[in-house]
Amino acid sequence: MGQGKPVATIVDMSECQCYWFPQMIFVRMRGRFGFYVSVSFGLLIVLCLSSLAGDIKAAGNTPRPIPDRLRWWTDARFGMFIHYGPVTLTGEELSWSRANSNPQCPNKGSTPVEVYDNLYRRFNPTEFKADDWTAVAKAAGMKYVVLTTKHCDGFLLWDSKVDGYNIMASPFKRDIVAELAAASRKDGLRIGWYFSPMDWRDPDFRTERNAAFLGRMQGELREVLSGYGKIDLLWFDYDGGKPLYDQASTYALVKQAQPQIIINNRLDLGVEGNNEAMLNPNADYYTPEQRIGGYDDQRPWETCMTLGTQWSWKPKDKIKSAAEVIGILARTVGGDGNLLLDVGPMPDGRIEPRQVDVLEQVGAWVKLNRESIYGTRGGPWKPTATVASTRKGKNIYVHVLQWPTGPLIFPEIPAKIVGAKLLGGGSVEYHKMPSGIEVSVPMDKRDVNDTVIVLKLNREATTIPAVAIPQPIAQISSAKTVR
Ligand code: GLC
Repeated sequence: MGQGKPVATIVDMSECQCYWFPQMIFVRMRGRFGFYVSVSFGLLIVLCLSSLAGDIKAAGNTPRPIPDRLRWWTDARFGMFIHYGPVTLTGEELSWSRANSNPQCPNKGSTPVEVYDNLYRRFNPTEFKADDWTAVAKAAGMKYVVLTTKHCDGFLLWDSKVDGYNIMASPFKRDIVAELAAASRKDGLRIGWYFSPMDWRDPDFRTERNAAFLGRMQGELREVLSGYGKIDLLWFDYDGGKPLYDQASTYALVKQAQPQIIINNRLDLGVEGNNEAMLNPNADYYTPEQRIGGYDDQRPWETCMTLGTQWSWKPKDKIKSAAEVIGILARTVGGDGNLLLDVGPMPDGRIEPRQVDVLEQVGAWVKLNRESIYGTRGGPWKPTATVASTRKGKNIYVHVLQWPTGPLIFPEIPAKIVGAKLLGGGSVEYHKMPSGIEVSVPMDKRDVNDTVIVLKLNREATTIPAVAIPQPIAQISSAKTVR
């Protein structure tokens, strides 16, 4: 067993202060000699200070503390996105499969408008049980749900008084939004509403009559945020078109209805189409889509990703394996982000059994390794394709998704390692090598999905600036691992 050697990355100011005293003496000396010596010491001080500044810059930032209002959400790390609506009857993509009836909108789907807009007349998800959805989310280890209360096609999943194109006009006649809110609350899950400010069916949207659309849109938003108790999160979408939503009054009504609500960044996004931009102080986090965000411990973020290949249900869809999802979760949390994983329930209201099966496998892993996910920050080692790390208190949790063929070595960090173990139980060897910290776990103790190693430090792990892992470590092993 070896130990990590502390590395001083920041020069202590006291090392510089020793120069002040003789400097002051020389300044008082008269004549040329005193002048030159004084100038030389002055230069030394400047050099010393600039090298200090350089070292601080090289060391990078430490993770920015999370504001209190956002804390439940960053602690949660894992949520369920649910895309649902009458479109599941066709098995095509939600909203995007609708033909275009407004040239200002980007959809160019194959389902004719008259067909698409009448699907609700046949929409009757008799097997829908909100409790089943929340049970699946819980079993997966998810801590919040985000439902498409209104997608871009304009259909409302709640009993709306503002617009009749809603679930009560379908044969189902049950308020899905109300039932999911109640089930989530009962199961201790936080509640989020996806709400599309776009309405591709509204004939006034993005026309000279946009103000009329805006009135309806804000009315719907107020309704879905006011009638269902405490709503924790609001997930706006954008479509790359002009965001004509009078953001000031829209944000104001959201904050008035739900003062503590967390809001994503998409209400302000327009033609530039950058879902990493945060253009308004009311935006709490940014939203990489269908990809794991890059390491960022300064601005909160959440990757949204589909379990299959489509947001809403697709028959015989190719779905990700549990190992893939676990890897995505570890690399997202390791990058200091959240993962919002999407399921699309079927037309009858059930989440497809294949999806449930994967989510339960993910949940079994999360349960065993929960300490390394919930309430952690990403780093200090930035994720690669094969390893990630998270941290909490004096612990670093190293996630090994695939073992390299050679030794697994992490770059030095300015801390001493005082102990190491496997999170699932078992010992770990660690050695200080010239190239960094080598960590090894016997083959038969490795988890085929993600082996989590706890490294105990002599200092708070979140006070360490994040470091990148040099490439060779990312080499993929062909060695077999066992669960
Ligand atoms: C994209 C899709 C939209 C989906 C959203 C979820 O914006 O266009 O349909 O709801 O991603 O992140």
